[in-house]
Amino acid sequence: MTTTTASLERETLRRRTFAIISHPDAGKTTITEKLLLYGGAIQEAGSVTAREGSRHTASDWMSIEQQRGISISSSALTFEYAGRHVNLLDTPGHQDFSEDTYRTLTAADSALMVLDAARGVQAQTEKLFAVCRNRGIPILTFINKMDRPAVDPFELLSQVETTLGIAAIPLTWPIGDGPDFKGVYDLQTKQVLVFERTARGKQRAPVQTAGLDDPELAKLVGADLAAKLIADVELIEGAMTVFESAAFLAGQVTPVFFGSAMNNFGIEHFLDNFVKLAPSPSATETNLGEREPEAAFAGFIFKLQANMSRAHRDRTAFMRVMSGHFVRGMDVTHTRTGRKLRLSQAHTLFAQDREKVDDAYPGDIVGLVNPGVFQIGDVISIEPKLELPDFPRFTPENFATLSLRDVGKRKAFMKGLTQLAEEGVVQVFFPTDGARDPYLGAVGPLQFEVFQARLSEEYGVEVEMHVTAYELVRWLAGDTSEVARFARHVEDDQGRPVMLFRSRYDLDYTRQQHPQIEFLPLPKDLTRV
Ligand code: G4P
Repeated sequence: MTTTTASLERETLRRRTFAIISHPDAGKTTITEKLLLYGGAIQEAGSVTAREGSRHTASDWMSIEQQRGISISSSALTFEYAGRHVNLLDTPGHQDFSEDTYRTLTAADSALMVLDAARGVQAQTEKLFAVCRNRGIPILTFINKMDRPAVDPFELLSQVETTLGIAAIPLTWPIGDGPDFKGVYDLQTKQVLVFERTARGKQRAPVQTAGLDDPELAKLVGADLAAKLIADVELIEGAMTVFESAAFLAGQVTPVFFGSAMNNFGIEHFLDNFVKLAPSPSATETNLGEREPEAAFAGFIFKLQANMSRAHRDRTAFMRVMSGHFVRGMDVTHTRTGRKLRLSQAHTLFAQDREKVDDAYPGDIVGLVNPGVFQIGDVISIEPKLELPDFPRFTPENFATLSLRDVGKRKAFMKGLTQLAEEGVVQVFFPTDGARDPYLGAVGPLQFEVFQARLSEEYGVEVEMHVTAYELVRWLAGDTSEVARFARHVEDDQGRPVMLFRSRYDLDYTRQQHPQIEFLPLPKDLTRV
């Protein structure tokens, strides 16, 4: 198949690849369902509910997630909306998160930050926001659950500005909250969208509109709320910065929308604005300079996952197309090893179903069967020398040891350990004396549970986990000739010297005692110096 530059450009411009960031319970799952509903990817919101009593989005597939009713692994959901091809990267939103969450954000061109109107900015939102900020991607904000008693909207905006350091500019404004929630005012089109409660989640919410000077307004929302709205709008229009797309694209301001996902209110309006505002894929920074989406085909691996579905027990590598037209069966180079590959096993995933992908464009996510060659951050390209300069790794903050219940299972254990570490479920550190079992490191402690459950379920190996008192890990560089004497000295899976510490004090003391050694939060080749 040949691709003209014009069609490549057209398809790239149509792409919107984004992720949702939120604190657990803010409504990410509900919004995902509603977006898929409006995108026509599902017929009714209820259809992604697998069982009564627990909610699942189509992206939840592993039983541990089903038992917990949460989404642990990330996947990409795709739908067409208003002529745009939308890729929604599903990121976990539970108490804990792993490197996987962070890495998924590297494949997004923008992010939607969902806040609970009663809680405002919460701890996890801050962490995820910081990752997006670091990458400089534009962020949109949806303030959810307006049908519940909410914090004053001016206060919510100021919270976003002070805690996150980004100017929050409302594009809609709520009229009342809780039982008095009457709808939102669109500050751009100057129309009131009136909220009507619908049978829960079942259909697309009907919307009635009126202008601010419409005599119907007081009838629709009540005289008090109409007066308050008029006063609020005057204040906003008089005092607030006007929304400018350039400032949004530069990550300096976030447009804010209000609504209620559960009631389907404000979602369609958000989506209409999202496809207009959010950017299409842009250039990727590589060792050979900025790679424009219009260049020849190249993609990078941002996520690996083993045993994704019972029907297909294999490993999948998720690739984001960064440039060019991907065609199934094309011959490419795996640039880290120089190995030639034919990409014939490409698919998208939707719940348990796989669909073959025949072609894909910049911004699209393609699942590739991973015969064990792919690592996170690897590049697959027509261009054999292309690499990503620094793909983010994250420093674990939780450490556990483990013991094997049945020593006869050592081989299966090592296989599971290697594959799950390769996916980034945990990082593994080996004691240098070879006598003891390895240490596991994780960004969040839930990763240990996930590791244990998957080891049992997918590899038939039972282990006991013991949380340790270590809190910090440092990779060692400089003159490390003496480190073999240290008890806390371990090696990572590449054999690099590493040391574990119980406290920052412990680290600082050791550092003072050994000025010839550098203590780095990431391996030297991954640390920007
Ligand atoms: P998460 O993925 O961010 O963790 O949040 P999720 O969508 O699962 O929503 C968390 C809870 O908040 C759910 O209730 C959900 O129904 C509810 N919720 C989501 N959007 C709204 C909203 O606009 N208004 C109100 N009032 N509630 C909302 P749950 O009790 O945990 O589950 P369920 O009983 O609804 O299944």
